[in-house]
Amino acid sequence: MSHKSNDSERKILVTSALPYANGPIHLGHLVEYIQTDIWARFQRLRDNTCYYVCADDAHGTPIMLRARQDGITPEELIAATKKEHEADFADFLIDFDNYYSTHSDENREFASSIYLKLRDEGHIHTKTIKQAYDPEAEMFLPDRFIKGNCPKCGADDQYGDNCEVCGATYDPTELKNPVSAVSGATPIEKDSEQYFFKLSDFSDMLQQWLKEGHVQKEVANKLDEWFEEGLKDWDISRNAPYWGFEIPDAPGKYFYVWMDAPMGYMASFKNFCDNNKVNFDNYWRAGDADESKTELYHFIGKDIARFHTLFWPAVLDGAGYRKPTAVFCHGFLTVNGQKMSKSRGTFIKARTYLENLNPEYLRYYYTAKLSSGVDDIDLNLEDFMQRVNSDLVGKVVNIASRCAGFITKKFDKQLSAELPEPELYNDIVAAGEQIAEFYENREYNKAVREIMAQADKANVYIDENKPWVLIKEEGREDEVQKICSQGLNMFRLLMTYLKPILPATAEKSEAFLNTELTWANIAQPLLSHKINKFKPLLTRIEKEQIEAMTEASTESMPVKETTQVAQQAGPLADDPIADEISFDDFAKIDLRIARIVKAEHVEGADKLLQLTLDLGGQSKNVFAGIKSAYKPEDLEGKLTVMVANLAPRKMRFGLSEGMVLAAGPGGKDLFILNPDDGAVPGMKVK
Ligand code: 2FM
Ligand code: ZN
Repeated sequence: MSHKSNDSERKILVTSALPYANGPIHLGHLVEYIQTDIWARFQRLRDNTCYYVCADDAHGTPIMLRARQDGITPEELIAATKKEHEADFADFLIDFDNYYSTHSDENREFASSIYLKLRDEGHIHTKTIKQAYDPEAEMFLPDRFIKGNCPKCGADDQYGDNCEVCGATYDPTELKNPVSAVSGATPIEKDSEQYFFKLSDFSDMLQQWLKEGHVQKEVANKLDEWFEEGLKDWDISRNAPYWGFEIPDAPGKYFYVWMDAPMGYMASFKNFCDNNKVNFDNYWRAGDADESKTELYHFIGKDIARFHTLFWPAVLDGAGYRKPTAVFCHGFLTVNGQKMSKSRGTFIKARTYLENLNPEYLRYYYTAKLSSGVDDIDLNLEDFMQRVNSDLVGKVVNIASRCAGFITKKFDKQLSAELPEPELYNDIVAAGEQIAEFYENREYNKAVREIMAQADKANVYIDENKPWVLIKEEGREDEVQKICSQGLNMFRLLMTYLKPILPATAEKSEAFLNTELTWANIAQPLLSHKINKFKPLLTRIEKEQIEAMTEASTESMPVKETTQVAQQAGPLADDPIADEISFDDFAKIDLRIARIVKAEHVEGADKLLQLTLDLGGQSKNVFAGIKSAYKPEDLEGKLTVMVANLAPRKMRFGLSEGMVLAAGPGGKDLFILNPDDGAVPGMKVK
């Protein structure tokens, strides 16, 4: 979609951080894309020009190695990933004006011209430094490709720059027993000449820039610490083999991925400008940008603040470009109060979410949680379900569904010529300015709270006026038409306020109300106006949808590459023992002896058998994935062990009320536990 310029309003360019082109988009990433998209949509709804561009971050060692591992070229890897990323973003209703790649002609051009300018101005120098080198793979190793024991706590399998166990940060040379994650060889130290950007040349400029309020307070405080430590020169080069752009005057040396990544913002916008006749320089050239009063905002996560608030403004300044109007940092995502985890099923990919749930639910929930600060936000799945159901379905959509039927059936879809309570309508209009201010300042949680407070007022009005009762009383039709018109007009205001968050529902509402929802028109209610038939706008989230998403995201514990376990023969080698649990966790599991009284095939299921289990008086229905190992008739009459207190799960074939225990790698080699007779159904297993 193209977002055209008009003369009087603000001209804004926004970006989100560029995701790496070697992995899928997950719910953690989406905090930022949703946050930025809502801001951009809000600006457009207020009649400002707002372009939103992004791209894949396509260079660097991890992408080179990942492609090698997959047996494809880096070009093939980044093309395939870009396609996936674009589909995920589109389905989450992220409305980019352009989605590009850092591996593009435009970006090569920016990387090269900016570098040459910085060099000519004397901001680049070379230095010979020692770096870790893998003699087997014949390559220099980035910190995260060196593993070893933490120098502080001794934990094994830790990366080259920080320990995930004790949190220590250190230099890769301090790691004990270091090995290359590429080949397993012991890294050696090797000299090579590298290119450095003299960040300290920009120290005064940066201090001044930061004083002017272009970053949040929390970030400014962090930056003060870095200034106190002193600004170090920044190594912008990497040795071959490297996947990226070769440095123009230095064959065999490549730009470090973080050098050309932020230039990807410019490259994506340049590509957009060339295709849409927009003036690039007005948004980026120092003088031109001032004159045309354009604004530039980068939305990023707090982990990459240093790159965007020190290096990037310095590089831009040194090369004659404008600096960002502001850099907006957000916090990280936790799910159910913890870091996302594959074994808990909370490392949820965008695609897995989309296969189970409507994207607008997540857009709404994140909005309800996001503030302008850098605090982490938590996606609590239970709260997510309740909040979406009660706010969106219970409060907002409910207003329309309670009023629409009467207008359609009794009044030929026609709204009344006047509102019975114009003050109430005007009150909700007046709240719009406060809501707009909250959006503008990225205090989305407050905007949502305010919108829902207005929705509460609208619902109280309908509850008190009870059109469904009045309609049964003779001669009161007019009143019903007015009450429902008041209701639908209030719904229209609420949906206008929610439009940046719920673009698809807003579009459906526009079709239903037969009008475009624009902020500029809210003061004027829809009167004597014909609407269209009401179709359901949003449905409730069902618990099963969340469960299915969590289940689809659950991976069994990854095989640890730790040497000790891997060297053992036998099943433990490829299925190491999982993390310890507490005795209390264990005590919660109620294991019981069960007799398989019936075992049957399940139509349409490749792996399942349906078991009827007798627990000594109580019967349980269980679907077990043991079809490849057992014929049903061989199971009947056998004793086995089951988890008797597992919450029942709805499966495609019916309700499963527990699990039977089996051992083995799978396929034919799967053995249900088969206790000796003497054990009796219902007996506790201790
Ligand atoms: O941290 C990351 O995921 C980087 N790929 C972000 C790059 S943002 C910009 F500078 F390109
Ligand atoms: Zn440690």
